[in-house]
Amino acid sequence: MSKYRKILIVGTALAATLATPAMAEKLGLGRAALPEEIAAWNLDVSPDGTGLPEGSGSVEYGETVFSENCASCHGEFAEGVGNWPKLAGGEDTLARRDPVKTVGSYWPYLSTVWDYVHRSMPFGAAQTLSTDDVYAMTAYILYSNYLVDSDFVLSKDNFLDVEMPNADGFIIDDREETEAHFWTEPCMENCKDEVEITMHASVLDVTPGTTEDDAPAEADTVAEADQAAAEEAPRTAGVAEPDPELVAEGEKVFRKCQACHQVGEGAKNRVGPQLNSVLGRTAGSIDDFRYSNPMSAAGEDGLAWTDETLAQYLADPRKYIKGTRMSFAGLRSQDEIDAVIAYLATFAE
Ligand code: HEC
Ligand code: HEC
Repeated sequence: MSKYRKILIVGTALAATLATPAMAEKLGLGRAALPEEIAAWNLDVSPDGTGLPEGSGSVEYGETVFSENCASCHGEFAEGVGNWPKLAGGEDTLARRDPVKTVGSYWPYLSTVWDYVHRSMPFGAAQTLSTDDVYAMTAYILYSNYLVDSDFVLSKDNFLDVEMPNADGFIIDDREETEAHFWTEPCMENCKDEVEITMHASVLDVTPGTTEDDAPAEADTVAEADQAAAEEAPRTAGVAEPDPELVAEGEKVFRKCQACHQVGEGAKNRVGPQLNSVLGRTAGSIDDFRYSNPMSAAGEDGLAWTDETLAQYLADPRKYIKGTRMSFAGLRSQDEIDAVIAYLATFAE
């Protein structure tokens, strides 16, 4: 009998045996979970307060705990840093095209905040804070949304008294009945012949990077890069007479930028700032765009986008401006860089 056959037979026998709990016990397989093991998993807090442990915490104390454990991502006032989630603000935006959904503007139940923070935050160090800390931070998040005063103390006892602005914003999904007449039989398998991936989460910069990306400005990085550039042979400035072929090539290269940048008529800030008239523009100078500190600082130090500076930035964004928020590896070839700059130069005002 081969080895494989033996294993198969043992496996089948085991499965049959396990079908009877008495035998499973006899074989010493598994054991009943301990009450504390069940408790460790059984954390959920319901909208009616079921599951809330005894405890309390003040806004004032919450501010300290939040500042130490949460502000690096969510901001000192829960306003969010970079693309990390905002926990405050966004009131009256839900009906807009780009609603800002925060605890204050969107979440219907305070219990979800308590449960979520208790269960999963701080990100990467979940469940390291005490019950009272969680009450305090929840109070602080409410305060950051102007929902309670600075002397407020949240506890198990007054938890249900807090009114969430969007508590009535959710309705029971009755579309199955009310919209039944729109529905056709939904396709549940093999519905598409081909699947095309049009965008990757990393390109969209959904979750901002840590370490280097967010590192504070190093004052002399730009200067160093400028010096390095000065030592290189000067590049030819090719924008006076746009070369249609180069511009067309640049338009193709710009596809790599399009996930984050718009250019042309009606261009808006997206993940990155709009790029109209970028040549000649001071770095980090679009008013309503939130640049990284290093980018703003570079602009304040006098960096303007020219053929040369832009070429260096695009070749290696993170090296040229250490800490830039542009999560883009850079353009590998000088031809691509020349082309995309020629293309951008056609969008002067
Ligand atoms: C290292 C960054 C980081 C830290 C520190 C951090 N968070 Fe978060 N937080 C996140 C990320 C990322 C998400 C979104 C997670 C997801 O969607 O799966 C999030 C989501 C949240 C949400 C839900 C937001 C929403 O609208 O969906 C709350 C509430 C929250 N965090 C509270 C806290 C609190 C309180 C602390 C401090 C104890 C904290 N976070 C610390 C990164 C962080
Ligand atoms: C993943 C998103 C992303 C991609 C892809 C991307 N950028 Fe950016 N870009 C940004 C962000 C975010 C900033 C703001 C950087 C900062 O504040 O540090 C930026 C800044 C810039 C700036 C400075 C603008 C200013 O107002 O100072 C230029 C120029 C630029 N990008 C050009 C490009 C070009 C050209 C490409 C394609 C070859 C490209 N970017 C690809 C996100 C992106």
